[in-house]
Amino acid sequence: MSSGTRPELYDFHGVQMTRSYTDMWERVQGFQARPDDILIATYPKAGTTWVSCILDLLYFGQTDPERQTSIPIHDRVPFLEMNMSNPEKDIKYFGIDLADKLTTKPRILKTHYPVQFVPKSFWEQNCKIVYVARNAKDNMVSYYHFDRMNQLQPATGEWSDYFQRFLVGKMNWGSWYDHVNGWWQKKRNYSNLHYMFFEDLVENTGLEIDKLSRFLGLSVTPEIRQQITGQVQFDQMKNNAMTNYSTLGDAMDFKVSPFMRKGKVGDWKNHFTVAQNEEFDQDYEQKMKDATLQFRTVV
Ligand code: A3P
Repeated sequence: MSSGTRPELYDFHGVQMTRSYTDMWERVQGFQARPDDILIATYPKAGTTWVSCILDLLYFGQTDPERQTSIPIHDRVPFLEMNMSNPEKDIKYFGIDLADKLTTKPRILKTHYPVQFVPKSFWEQNCKIVYVARNAKDNMVSYYHFDRMNQLQPATGEWSDYFQRFLVGKMNWGSWYDHVNGWWQKKRNYSNLHYMFFEDLVENTGLEIDKLSRFLGLSVTPEIRQQITGQVQFDQMKNNAMTNYSTLGDAMDFKVSPFMRKGKVGDWKNHFTVAQNEEFDQDYEQKMKDATLQFRTVV
């Protein structure tokens, strides 16, 4: 795949972005959130789709089970800033339009924006926000494979180059370090923010569903929790066309790497060299000064 067909990153208000996610900036900024809207915010590849499915099931799994088998997750949970039309690749996705047309109550929406980019109406309406974070090493590896297979993303180059780019934040949606820290700090003065971790979801999905339900003010029976836990298992989601992204045109080449790739904690060990790991750890210590934000790279 030639890198010429891939979009380029550029500096957008201090964050590296590609134009498909900034072209609708004014409209996204003007989005009118409602008090019961729920926003899922993540750095890419932190478990967005997983949590989107969980929330969709929590709210609509019992009342409208049909939607699980008939509407792709990217349409059930619109991706606010994505604006993409490419007839050659059979892609047409206008997140802000999808969001405006959503008829569900509540509306569940998705963004990869760093906290400072979130449209102000979400804060004004005191919307519930679910932030999902994933340890940087696995996040980097997952993002690398995603960028390899996704023509909508900038070219990866060699793994060693990608590794360096991640450290300096030359990634679409900017620096992982700024992202997770920015959202973590927001938690201090915005109580309607639930900050959760991919690693906890892997370790005990049911417990995380319980915590989410409490945050959302939903009462979920143990039976339903168990049912949802089963429905969002990795293999279930991987084999389900409504959740595995096979419905988003031809942008993604699953022969290069599937969207639902491994779903594990610790795959970084299969990618990082010993030297890279040392470099990473040293750099991490410099950047991650807030001891209250701790990630697990193994479970
Ligand atoms: P890997 O590439 O490490 O496999 P996002 O939805 O934010 O793009 O995140 C995608 C990552 O979450 C991928 O990680 C994907 O496999 C993983 N994932 C998605 N659903 C999952 C599930 N049900 N269980 C475990 N991992 C899941």
